[in-house]
Amino acid sequence: MSRIVHVNGQWLPEEDAKISVFDRGFLFADAIYEVTGVIGGKLIDYEGHIARLKRSLEALGMHAPVDEAALLDLHREIVARNDLKTGLIYLQISRGAEDRDFLFSGTLSPSVVLFTQARNILENPRWKTGIKVITVPEGRWVSRQIKTVQLLYSSLAKMEAVKSGADDAFFVEDGFITEATSSNAHMVTKEGVLVTRALSNALLHGITRGSVLDLARAAGLSVEERSFTPEEAKAASEVFITSAGTFVMPVVSIDGVPVGDGQPGDVSARLRQIYIEDQLARAI
Ligand code: PDD
Repeated sequence: MSRIVHVNGQWLPEEDAKISVFDRGFLFADAIYEVTGVIGGKLIDYEGHIARLKRSLEALGMHAPVDEAALLDLHREIVARNDLKTGLIYLQISRGAEDRDFLFSGTLSPSVVLFTQARNILENPRWKTGIKVITVPEGRWVSRQIKTVQLLYSSLAKMEAVKSGADDAFFVEDGFITEATSSNAHMVTKEGVLVTRALSNALLHGITRGSVLDLARAAGLSVEERSFTPEEAKAASEVFITSAGTFVMPVVSIDGVPVGDGQPGDVSARLRQIYIEDQLARAI
């Protein structure tokens, strides 16, 4: 059955949903996005995603095409129209369409697209096995805190990882891990300290990252926000990634070196459980 997609104020079957070839999202990757989880028809960590969306819009000097109340209505309506129980909502806002020019005019109307992806994000079989990652040089642009759709380098890095028998890649810059291709990277040291890179322009400020760190601190875990190297991660007791689609996903090997005993660890399992319980209680 075809999904119902939202495009610039219209609700359309996915086959009929179209964007102009002059859209700057298409021509210049001049667009930002958010991916929000849905469980039981309710939105997960929604306030965080919308706060980051506003920061991304501001950083690129784009004006918000719809206000916050309308945005929440769009999210709720797309869930209802697609009868989405569990999965993801993708929201993209591009600067708009005009004749191709590196300079853009200030009067453009942003293009707004939302679609759903039905997916059982509550039962991910990879949580039991964990994933394998390789390290690759960081090659993305410098403003990674803005959630833009410039994802080509990340997509190629993930393709490379899968070609080499792994599942994902960690980007490494100046000897330190920035993050994974579409999630934040964390480790738990042999001493039980949760270490994660501090926020800066070097990485996306993950919404799941923020919530998981708050919950980890509340659960009494010691948390250090600092950069760490691939060697430290390989010698850690646990490594995991966080994102809206995977929550807390264990990493069991890095460049072929097993992490800990090569099995998903207890800390990441516990954090995932706490995160899901907390979010289920707060989903809107
Ligand atoms: N990716 N880092 C990068 C580079 C990401 O693309 C993402 C999310 C994250 C995690 O952010 P959050 O916890 O807010 O989902 C970190 C989404 C899921 C995607 O592109 O599909």
